[in-house]
Amino acid sequence: MIQIAPSILAADFAALGEQVQTVEEAGAHLLHLDVMDGHFVPNITLGPPVVASIRKITRLPLDVHLMIENPDAYVEAFADAGADWISVHSEACAHLDRTLNRIRSLGLSTGVALNPATSLSVLDNVLSLVDFVLIMSVNPGFGAQKFIPYSLRKIEELRKMIDRKGLSVKIEVDGGVSLDNLCALVRSGSEVLVAGSQIFGSPDPGAVVRQMIDRSAGCVESGQGGVR
Ligand code: DX5
Ligand code: ZN
Repeated sequence: MIQIAPSILAADFAALGEQVQTVEEAGAHLLHLDVMDGHFVPNITLGPPVVASIRKITRLPLDVHLMIENPDAYVEAFADAGADWISVHSEACAHLDRTLNRIRSLGLSTGVALNPATSLSVLDNVLSLVDFVLIMSVNPGFGAQKFIPYSLRKIEELRKMIDRKGLSVKIEVDGGVSLDNLCALVRSGSEVLVAGSQIFGSPDPGAVVRQMIDRSAGCVESGQGGVR
């Protein structure tokens, strides 16, 4: 099943509770929370207290994407705040194996995120430690950027790598996801689609979530999903 994960980065933060409720009622599967520290990426967003507040107002699993340096120092705090999924960037982890094991030991869904320029080869030794891989299809730091087309080929390669190893690791794609490229992403093997501006940039975020769900089911059923 394809899962839709609205990213609140593009939401109206003054009306966050209401915006989260809207996408939850529309059937979103996860809520994607972008944590940025102004060091690993040139932007600053939110920390554990905001995650804890959101935890109180939704039943959606919280998918916390850490775009921060030294994530080791913070994974416990985000777990305590109510994160269900945590991803860390391979580029930010000097000891990626240790960091991933730490997230696993907290009982959370464990993910590794790769910047567009990062090769899939960094996954060779750690793919069996993760529940999902987050492929960045824009350079992280901001919403509403243009999808980088070579990401599709990268996702296809990753799908093959996962299948070859007989693993059930999910592929999440983040950045520039839209109603227009959604089917191509599903065909490439993506299973979790993060979307910020496409959803919250719309006057009717709930309608966009419903369209994304319908369209992703449609591209699987219509046999257009031929890559896998
Ligand atoms: C970018 C973030 C994304 C962002 C995606 O660094 O990781 O999650 O919210 O936004 P859109 O969907 O607008 O590209
Ligand atoms: Zn993200």
